[in-house]
Amino acid sequence: MGTRASILILLLLLLENCRCWDESTLRRPPSTGDGLCAQILRPLGYPCEEHTVQTKDGFILSVQHIPHGRGGLKGSVESGPPVFLQHGLFQGGDTWFVNSVEESLGFILADHGFDVWVGNVRGTHWSPGHVKFSVHAKEFWDWSWEQLAEYDLTAMISYVYSVTHSKVFFIGHSQGTIMALSAFTMPDAVEMIEAAALLCPISYLDHITSRFVLRAVSLHLDQLLITLGLHQLNFRSDTGIQILDSLCDGHMDCNNLLASITGVNCCFNMTRMDYYLEYEPHPSSTKNLNHLFQMIRKGTFARFDYGWWGNLKRYGHIHPPAFNLADIPESLPLWMAYGGNDALADPIDVKRIIKGLKSEPVLLYNDSYGHIDFIMSVNAKDDVYANLIRFFQSYRWLSSY
Ligand SMILES: *[C@@H]1O[C@H](CO)[C@@H](O)[C@H](O)[C@H]1NC(C)=O
Ligand SMILES: *[C@@H]1O[C@H](CO)[C@@H](O)[C@H](O)[C@H]1NC(C)=O
Repeated sequence: MGTRASILILLLLLLENCRCWDESTLRRPPSTGDGLCAQILRPLGYPCEEHTVQTKDGFILSVQHIPHGRGGLKGSVESGPPVFLQHGLFQGGDTWFVNSVEESLGFILADHGFDVWVGNVRGTHWSPGHVKFSVHAKEFWDWSWEQLAEYDLTAMISYVYSVTHSKVFFIGHSQGTIMALSAFTMPDAVEMIEAAALLCPISYLDHITSRFVLRAVSLHLDQLLITLGLHQLNFRSDTGIQILDSLCDGHMDCNNLLASITGVNCCFNMTRMDYYLEYEPHPSSTKNLNHLFQMIRKGTFARFDYGWWGNLKRYGHIHPPAFNLADIPESLPLWMAYGGNDALADPIDVKRIIKGLKSEPVLLYNDSYGHIDFIMSVNAKDDVYANLIRFFQSYRWLSSY
């Protein structure tokens, strides 16, 4: 550990160091005490239950259920059609509820008569449990988005499907869409889905323009962290904050670090930053970062690359098997929204997804939207969500709305 610490210190000294934000906000522990329902939803007048789902590989995930909106159930409807929300990287289920009730997609769906279910992947502040390993164990962090798709997403959707006895509408953002697109290439998951809406869809990452991410890729941050034995990537920890500081070199607009990472967001509420930082960012695994960086370096949508010998042992081939978007059934209705200022889900990469699909997804493009706008824009209710809800309603008419 002594050597690791000194390598890290050396690395940090080599990198240009600048302070971009008020670290004390990040250093505070996240507000997660009694769960997401108690923290955000019930205080705002929404019914909310905490559920627990165990994955086949032993992770214990929390899933929130908001059975209806503030107005109660409408008319004779027992409950609306279920919709499952899957957050992105370094985020958690709170993502869908951190703006006002009029602006946040989770609240809007509940108030439109949907039966809302919220996913939280392994390792987030809301899902820190495993039957055998503690969050401090190396084994707890031995996964990437591939396992989030195969185990977490499948377990959570199956749970909602079996409790509601109904096909489920799916909404994912960013990493939530990689999970979905890879899971949907397998027949088991698709059978449970009524229709899917993908915000900032990602399968290919080689046209990414995020200066922050490209810098991390060129510095081989992923491999470096693995060498240092850091398996958990937590930007609220001392090491995490040092990493952020080091990547933020003098050429970047440090006052707008978020833009350096995600692209310029047209309609992000900066004055609400402290509130967002009460919940986010959430931890993820270094192996996940490594897998995403492999995609950026190679332009593939494939399983984790263990090197030719590791691949041969694991997959029987020297290259990791690719996911084939054409395996997603044409019968699955898809809706996709993407933005001209998104530095992570670049329009060129999004178009490559569309080309690879058998079906023709319904598209929504906004030139001025960045990566975070799709979940946090103060105008998203008009720019994006109205269209998304109409798309879902065209597949199942909500009688009382
Ligand atoms: C932005 O956030 C502030 C602080 O939470 C809030 O008072 C304001 O209403 C928000 N603005 C919009 C347009 O939502
Ligand atoms: C894109 O978003 C901007 C900012 O909210 C909005 O003014 C504009 O109408 C949107 N464009 C479309 C085509 O929806």
